Amino acid sequence: MQICETKSELRSALQKLRKDGKSVGLVPTMGYLHEGHMTLVRRAVAENDVVAASIFVNPTQFGNPEDLEKYPRDMERDLNLLRAEGVSVVFTPVPSEMYHANAQTIVETKDLANTLMGELRPGHFRGVATVVTKLFNLFQPTRAYFGEKDYQQLLVIKTMVRDLDIPVDVCGVPTVRETDGLAMSSRNVRLSDAARKAAPIIAQSLDHADTLVASGITVASLRQKIWDHIATETLANVQSIDIQDAYTLAPLDGKIKSDIVILVAVEFDPVLLIDQRVISV
Ligand code: PAJ
Repeated sequence: MQICETKSELRSALQKLRKDGKSVGLVPTMGYLHEGHMTLVRRAVAENDVVAASIFVNPTQFGNPEDLEKYPRDMERDLNLLRAEGVSVVFTPVPSEMYHANAQTIVETKDLANTLMGELRPGHFRGVATVVTKLFNLFQPTRAYFGEKDYQQLLVIKTMVRDLDIPVDVCGVPTVRETDGLAMSSRNVRLSDAARKAAPIIAQSLDHADTLVASGITVASLRQKIWDHIATETLANVQSIDIQDAYTLAPLDGKIKSDIVILVAVEFDPVLLIDQRVISV
């Protein structure tokens, strides 16, 4: 497995690997890998001739400098995990390698970036769209893999690829969970013991939503019921619950008559956890 810290090393490594028209699968990450990331990697290995990954904690998608600084990192362990799965090349740039000191260009999916989680974290999706565009340009992958856990992120990336004619196939992968239902996340290690015990309430509330939707319910009362359920945990500070059209993220009201996505953001001080559930009707 080749580890590239610079763009030029990456370009020459990929040039050799891509010979004879080999397909390249890319898994972009911010590291501190867990089973969720590894599921993306395994899918990429199964579907491509060559698999590449990136580990880059992208400063431009963090609103809060403390969150960026406290983001967990363990490069040695990450590289071993990727090597064991048969990944061929990993890009591990420092921010000054990734971004020109006088960078002027951004990529923004206008409406989609500034609604829902984008309203909660201004600038976040602009940071994601810009860095993922750069990664697509650097790797020129055949396919790229993203988790449905970050549902709005996946839609932002699919939209930007469509709008900018980026020649890559964006593949979504279902959320991987701990046995108690908590969606796997690199942030979970920052939860206190008490918060870690309480956090599965998020997934439980989404399971409950499945039943409520089947029984016929309005958007407003579903939202209220999920909110109340999570708020029974005193450590949980619900930030947002959004029930939107599953494919366009358009707002909905009244009785639920089409496929929905429920997007939940809950803070267990100081860690923001997100989860999502698509419910087909
Ligand atoms: P990161 O949080 O490291 O996640 C990397 C990829 O793993 C994302 O596509 C994310 O959706 C996926 N992932 C995380 N937890 C998952 C889980 N429990 N099940 C399935 N997939 C999961 O998302 C980012 O990094 C960054 O925003 C990035 C796209 C790399 C741009 O900087």
